[in-house]
Amino acid sequence: MDKQERMKALRGYLKDSIRGLTDFSTTDQARGVPMPPVEKPVPEGETPVKLPEWRGTVCPEGTLDRIIGERKSERKYLETPLNAEEISFLLWATQGVRQATAGRVSRTVPSAGNRHSTETYLALTRSALSRTGGSDLQPGLWRYLPLEHALLFLGCPDDLSGRIGKAVKERAHVIQAPAVFFWACIPYRTEWRYAEASHKVIALDAGHICQNLYLAAGAIGCGTCAVAGYDQAAADALFHLDGEEEFIIYLAPVGKTR
Ligand SMILES: Cc1cc2nc3c(=O)[nH]c(=O)nc-3n(C[C@H](O)[C@H](O)[C@H](O)COP(=O)(O)O)c2cc1C
Repeated sequence: MDKQERMKALRGYLKDSIRGLTDFSTTDQARGVPMPPVEKPVPEGETPVKLPEWRGTVCPEGTLDRIIGERKSERKYLETPLNAEEISFLLWATQGVRQATAGRVSRTVPSAGNRHSTETYLALTRSALSRTGGSDLQPGLWRYLPLEHALLFLGCPDDLSGRIGKAVKERAHVIQAPAVFFWACIPYRTEWRYAEASHKVIALDAGHICQNLYLAAGAIGCGTCAVAGYDQAAADALFHLDGEEEFIIYLAPVGKTR
């Protein structure tokens, strides 16, 4: 295998087309092998050290401890749309710029080598109105610009919900959400530095982004659910991505839960 073929194969692991090549009927779970333990057992004769109570001692109660403690995947959302300020906050929390100096742009999430291969696309199925006199966001497809903290309108396909449905294999909770975050990756941004060692860290980067979405959503009465099962070609086509130099790797619907 030459370098180009090796890189193509490695990029393949970031795509959900891998699911189509996987024979799930032969997994150990499908064959009835018992589930592996969720924790390694304590070696015989050893006693773990109990950790002290941290509630009320290390951070103000009801803040970060509540948000982390209540984090869960939410698949039911209220009809209420998100407003533009909430969208703005969620984009900042997941990919926003924390500090920009000459030659270095730091974000609210970490990224291996600060390469940030991820692009954020947003599908809004309902208008997100501004509460503070800023711009309202119309339904359709958008791309986030972290440097400007702005959104670029990409248009609204005639059958937006149908196109989202196709991209997410008709998962009802995604189609019903007022906003769906689609994360694409431009692998070369990381390959430029790390070559074949890139793809593992690109996947790790995506996890940090989605975790921030869970926590930020929880802080504003919203819920989300990570989704790695989707139709690769339909999701790429939704945002006119070429599927090679840029393709969807992960997505998450967001909606109000209270
Ligand atoms: C990498 C990853 C992929 C996931 N993919 C899906 C998915 O395709 N569909 C879905 O409904 N949930 C998906 N989830 C959510 C998990 O099912 C969920 O996190 C898990 O059941 C634990 O539940 P909790 O998040 O409420 O603790 C995914 C989560 C992760 C971290």
